[in-house]
Amino acid sequence: MSSRSRNWLHAMGAVLLAAVAIGCARVRPVAVGRAPRTLRTAFEGAFLVGAALNVAQFSGRDTAGAALVRAQFNAITPENVLKWQSVHPRPGVYDFATADQYVAFGERDGMFIVGHTLVWHQQTPRWVFQDSSGNPVSRDTLLARLRDHIETVVGRYRGRIRGWDVVNEALNDDGTLRPTPWLTIIGVDYLAQAFRFAHAADPAAELYYNDYALENAPKRNGALDLVRRLRAAGIPITGVGLQGHNRMDWPTAAQQDSTIVAFAGLGVRVMITELDIDVLPRPNQSATVLNPYPNGLPDSVQHALAQRYAELFTVYERHAADIGRVTFWGVADGDSWLNHWPVRGRTNYPLLFDRQHRPKPAFEAVMGVAAQAPAR
Ligand code: G3I
Repeated sequence: MSSRSRNWLHAMGAVLLAAVAIGCARVRPVAVGRAPRTLRTAFEGAFLVGAALNVAQFSGRDTAGAALVRAQFNAITPENVLKWQSVHPRPGVYDFATADQYVAFGERDGMFIVGHTLVWHQQTPRWVFQDSSGNPVSRDTLLARLRDHIETVVGRYRGRIRGWDVVNEALNDDGTLRPTPWLTIIGVDYLAQAFRFAHAADPAAELYYNDYALENAPKRNGALDLVRRLRAAGIPITGVGLQGHNRMDWPTAAQQDSTIVAFAGLGVRVMITELDIDVLPRPNQSATVLNPYPNGLPDSVQHALAQRYAELFTVYERHAADIGRVTFWGVADGDSWLNHWPVRGRTNYPLLFDRQHRPKPAFEAVMGVAAQAPAR
């Protein structure tokens, strides 16, 4: 080889190395060597990555589940134990034994601890809305009960629970307010009042409105109006929780993208709060087999699920500046509520870890999105 061609090769090599170096500089560094590959480190600087926990996980009964949570996540949400019926089952009776365990679990590792949820029409005992004869209470009585509940629950964990789903699922599919007892007894200001009470109980806590299917235009428009009105009235709402109970074909990446953009445009933070992807048919889809994968997910579906997760995380990454947290609704597939809804006893595969707590191809796909993201 002539010295001229050797020089040319050296020059090209240098250009290639520089190109690789520039490319690397734009890609967020990923853990190398023997460091565990975890969701929380992969998305550091982008958003928190959380999971909803059940009692077995934070009480230590499910040791494998608890270890997985500590390894992978830096935010937690209680799947059920902070709902009204759990902490405030009877008038004047509060029971924080289990919720205290949940908070202690998160504090041990300095996790971002979320409270879920203060105002909802489900998992709220009937007595809340009734007097001793079973008749609806007055607006003033219900407001007083709401204030007492929020002051007591938020106040107990002041400075420890850092963000609250204050109002959950207040909207109908068409964007109008759902006719819950909260609305019919108190009136439209029940949402504003709930946020005010929560802010008074812990002025530093982040406060969210949380709902599902906000990617559909009519409901999204209703939620946008709601947030606009709350903010115009000076109500301290920090963010909107897009629950993210997704399907393989819904929402589209474009719907997800425009929904995040729309809420961020109002000046609130966006949280993905209850992420999962249902791979099973809905009973009304004229499906003849309702539980098609009792013994495992076929490779083709496993692959499609991984791609679907990559698609969604690509959108979240693009809007990382506006997204504070992405929380999965469960840890491993066996824990998911989707094994019991809308049909009891099915075998669903909605999360990133399988029933043995092993990472699925979907986990690798999500980690791949993090590895390709620009450095922050
Ligand atoms: O704890 C009892 C148990 O003692 C009893 O043996 C068993 C029999 O059915 O029920 C157990 O309670 C169940 C509870 O989950 C704990 O597993 C309730 O029946 C069941 O209704 C409840 O479901 C929860 C659901 O909210 C209630 O509507 C799911 O776990 C929980 O994942 C789900 O979470 C909601 C979010 O809070 C809001 N967004 C939607 C999301 C999914 O529905």
